This record gives sequence, structure tokens and C-alpha cells, in this order.
Amino acid sequence: MNAPFNKHANNAATSPAFLSLWEVEAYYGESYIVQNISFSIHEGEILALLGRNGAGKTSTLRTIARLGNPELRHGEIWLDHKPLHEMKSHQAAAAGIALVPEDRRIIAGLTVEENLQLAQIAPPKGWSLDRIYDLFPRLGERRKQEGVTLSGGEQQMLAIARALARDIKVLLLDEPYEGLAPVIVQEIAKTLGVIRDQGITTVIVEQNAVAALKLADRAVILDTGSVVFDGSAAEVLENSDLRAQYLAI
Ligand SMILES: Nc1ncnc2c1ncn2[C@@H]1O[C@H](COP(=O)(O)OP(=O)(O)OP(=O)(O)O)[C@@H](O)[C@H]1O
Ligand SMILES: [Mg+2]
Repeated sequence: MNAPFNKHANNAATSPAFLSLWEVEAYYGESYIVQNISFSIHEGEILALLGRNGAGKTSTLRTIARLGNPELRHGEIWLDHKPLHEMKSHQAAAAGIALVPEDRRIIAGLTVEENLQLAQIAPPKGWSLDRIYDLFPRLGERRKQEGVTLSGGEQQMLAIARALARDIKVLLLDEPYEGLAPVIVQEIAKTLGVIRDQGITTVIVEQNAVAALKLADRAVILDTGSVVFDGSAAEVLENSDLRAQYLAI
């Protein structure tokens, strides 16, 4: 039995962790960046991964997605009893991990629909185009428009939609609200709530901590590559000392 070790007792008593990191250490060359991180997420939860600039949030997401840089040198990462720590990035993707990076990577020269179709090439297929357009009506209206000409908010929607077009279990979002107007942030947050209700597990990294915490079930705060808080999102919203100390808000 390869049950993931769970250092944090949070909800572990009621259900097993779906994604868990155990004593994860990762390096860029000789720079020790992800410093012994452990946390876990239950299926269908949204976890806000927060911390100041340079705390190691992006590096942690990249480590989960097994991108190779930073290099995982110690620890284990389990997804639904599958050892992600033994996988390369394409295997982690096939196991159901999708990383939506900060720069969104919409492919130039392709329409909205072609961007989505490209994501569906590799089986197994995820959500159908109809289901995606149902969730993101703006993308449906603009299906023939070139993806890179979309507004920032629409590009973020396309980046998330493209992840769903694959058969994914976990959505890793790196600063999805960056540069977006509050009304668009609200629209995307509402959509992420619907995606959660459909059973997808989400990790959201955000500088807009309040928006992320309002959406999230749980929060993990990083400081210089280590976990300094692991608990409910509501607890962080209510605890101004914690926010001031680690989030500067
Ligand atoms: N490719 C790299 N090579 C060397 N060091 C890196 C590399 N990428 C990031 N780092 C360093 O790793 C540390 C963590 O960076 P990371 O990007 O994970 O932080 P972050 O929490 O996402 O910050 P931000 O909020 O600014 O996006 C920083 O000190 C950064 O300078
Ligand atoms: Mg970052």
C-alpha cells in the first residue's frame, strides 16, 4: 500500500489525500529553493498557495508538474496513489496534472477553437467543445477569433479551457488574476467554483490573496521555500497578523 504520508492532520481523518507532497526539496542548479515542503489536498478542493514574491510558489507548481527545472532531489509527490516524483513532465500530464503558467502560452496564429482542438489531439479527450463553451460563453462567441487577440481575461479563460480539453484531475494555476479587472476576476472565480463542483482539484497561486482566499477551501502559505501555514482559507482571511506577516496585506 503506497498511501501518501500526510504531515498535516487537517482533513486527513475524514478522507485520504488526493495530491500530496512529502518533504519535497527542489533545486535550480545548486540553489536550494523548495525547502522541505509537505502539504496535501483532497479531491475537489481548491487550495490557495500563497506567499510573498520569491517565496517559491511558481517553483512548487513546476515541481508538482515535474518540469525538471527546478530539479526534485528529495521527497515524494503522490497523485491518487501514483508516484509523480518518479515521473517526467509528460507522464505527470498523462496522469492528470495541468499547469496553466503565468504567461498563458496561447498559440499565435490559431483561433480559439484551434487552440482547444490542439489540446484534444492526445487521447484521452477531456471536456468537449460544447461543454467548454457552456462554461465559457465568451470563448464560444469568439471561437473563430485568433487566440492571441483576445483580452487578457479571455486569454486566461482560454488557458484554463485548454487544460480542461485534456483529461485532467488537477489544475495548477499560476497567478490567473494577474492584470485583470475586478469584474473579470469575479467571473473567472465563479467559473473555477463550477470547475471544482465538477470534481477537479485546484491549486491557485495568487498575489491577489484575498480573491484567492475567498474562492479557496484551504490555504498553504510559503515563506523562503518552506510552509509556514497550512489551514483553512477562512482562517487566513480572519487572521490579520498572519496576513501582515507573510502576505503583506
Ligand atoms: N530558473 C531559475 N534559476 C534560479 N533561480 C530561480 C529560477 N527561477 C526562480 N528562481 C529563484 O527561486 C526563488 C523562488 O522563485 P519562484 O518563482 O518560485 O517564487 P514565487 O513565489 O513564484 O514568486 P513571485 O510571486 O514573484 O512569482 C526566487 O528566489 C527566484 O529568484
Ligand atoms: Mg511566481
